[in-house]
Amino acid sequence: MNKNFLALHDFSKKELDDLFELALELKKKQKNGEKHRLLKGKTLAMIFEKSSTRTRVSFEVGIYQLGGHGLFISSGTSQMGRGEPLKDTARTLSRFCDGIMVRTYGQEIVEELARFATVPIINGLTDLFHPCQIMADLLTVIEHKGTYNGLKFAWVGDGNNMANTWIEAAAIFGFDLTLACPQGYQPDRKVLEWAHANGKASIVLTDDPKAAVKDADVLNTDVWASMGQEEEQKAREKAFAGYQLNAETLKLAKPDCIVMHCLPAHRDEEITDEVIEGPNSVVWDEAENRLHIQKAIMASLMG
Ligand code: CP
Ligand code: NVA
Repeated sequence: MNKNFLALHDFSKKELDDLFELALELKKKQKNGEKHRLLKGKTLAMIFEKSSTRTRVSFEVGIYQLGGHGLFISSGTSQMGRGEPLKDTARTLSRFCDGIMVRTYGQEIVEELARFATVPIINGLTDLFHPCQIMADLLTVIEHKGTYNGLKFAWVGDGNNMANTWIEAAAIFGFDLTLACPQGYQPDRKVLEWAHANGKASIVLTDDPKAAVKDADVLNTDVWASMGQEEEQKAREKAFAGYQLNAETLKLAKPDCIVMHCLPAHRDEEITDEVIEGPNSVVWDEAENRLHIQKAIMASLMG
């Protein structure tokens, strides 16, 4: 298996399926109160250049449950924030820690860290990808639907880091994905090209949310303005009007569809309160599964 967890495209379907299996096993052990200290005495450095609730807590609790220790490092209060080169940070942290999780802006930042670190680097969200989240989402789909095979996935909203990672997942796992994104807010072109060249899945891009959700089994959305795009909020509210998951859109999907959102959600923007709180929503299971899948990722990389 690849030494780092930077993007799903670095892994085979089998390697990722093995992570689901391990995550389910670890989840069961944790629920039954059975010890599973696969990373006893190991330390994970967690670098945050952006805000977080779920990622920070799930990694810190996860490494603790595996018998290790998590170290929260905010870029603003470390020497990274004062311009210490990434390659120096990577080599220094590698001498102290057994793995490094990083949440940052450009994908090139996690790649640079990986180039110089001698311990595994885990992508905890970049502007391009959010691979831990999509793995948690698919684990949730497996639990609720039994499998991801043969399901129809829909994405409604911004062609952002979440959408890009769903595209990679569709190509690798071979499920059908339709994304409805407004003009000018489409997913990364290179990611789409990679997916079309490397997968057999049907990945369709449209600007019609109704077409995307029609008969879908899994509905997905995310905020209209991601971290770092706060000043675009007003312009995005205009561009994304009509790209909301609400009771009307839900009627077009399968009656037993599941609704997902990586959170944090902006109620009554990309999703209505009614839908996120409704019977089809699985967002809390989805949030919890960050813990279980990341324990599997850490155990596989750092064990
Ligand atoms: N979904 C997610 O990554 O949440 P946080 O921003 O709270 O970490
Ligand atoms: N697209 C969002 C995801 C947050 C978990 C962002 O990047 O802010």
